Amino acid sequence: MKNLINILDLSVEEIDSLIKVADDIIADPEKYNEVCRHKILATLFFEPSTRTRLSFESAMLSLGGQVLGFSEASSSSAAKGESVADTIAVVSGYADIIAMRHPKEGAPHVALTRSTVPIINAGDGGHFHPTQTLTDLLTISHEKGRLNNLKIGVCGDLKFGRTVHSLIAAMSRYTGIEFVLISPVELKLPSFVKKDYIKDKGIPYYQSTNLDDVIGDLDILYMTRVQRERFFNEEDYLRLKDSYILTEEKMKKASPDLRVMHPLPRVNEISTAVDSDPRACYFKQARYGKFIRMALIMDMLGVTV
Ligand code: CP
Repeated sequence: MKNLINILDLSVEEIDSLIKVADDIIADPEKYNEVCRHKILATLFFEPSTRTRLSFESAMLSLGGQVLGFSEASSSSAAKGESVADTIAVVSGYADIIAMRHPKEGAPHVALTRSTVPIINAGDGGHFHPTQTLTDLLTISHEKGRLNNLKIGVCGDLKFGRTVHSLIAAMSRYTGIEFVLISPVELKLPSFVKKDYIKDKGIPYYQSTNLDDVIGDLDILYMTRVQRERFFNEEDYLRLKDSYILTEEKMKKASPDLRVMHPLPRVNEISTAVDSDPRACYFKQARYGKFIRMALIMDMLGVTV
């Protein structure tokens, strides 16, 4: 049985294959209308979401399947004290596949111990978010035409930003990758991510606190939100939340071939004036999330056209 907890659970070849299927879905969606008929996806979201939950649900409905689940812990029996393990043991009797998001790092590993159906990690605390990374890879592949030979700047909350952790882990397996890590000192990339996926692999990188200094060198700028929900005190959040704001002025220093990505939601870190810049592709990125999740659901259920 396949599960997806960490993006590295998928080989580069498996990711290539998912991207190919997603491309085919984009080209001919009707071909996939009924492939998951009579299959049920459960979306168990113990933490808020717009894109991940709704794109998973839209993906399953577009494959002809059905969905059930909850969008907040307070509307599930977690509010009465039920454990993740017990919730999963029960829901795996109601669904063929489960996508779950939880504020605690490692919660999907607990789910694995009790599930009888495939588990997809839809984000665990400040740890990993592998299906966002699949979305990001499909976006990069469309926008840049390649997944290698890229200088990728990741900017903002590199400490708590789980999308950044998964993206770096995934990109570390391609050739010719360089990372530029742009963050305030307090929100630096965790040492386990830097060690395992950058230093130990000999990948060139440099760190900066100043976006203006480095924006001109980048092929991809991956902006992130400062993750208010992971801070221990509001004062620190308020001090750091506007550390980086991408404006039209800053975009003048960037290459015409730069692509600006963001997993969204955006708070204040990209000016809305940048949205109409042809290099901004974050809303396109969100749309791609549905197609790659369709490909993933099919793969994990062993369904083909
Ligand atoms: N990118 C992302 O995970 O968005 P949501 O929190 O809205 O799911």
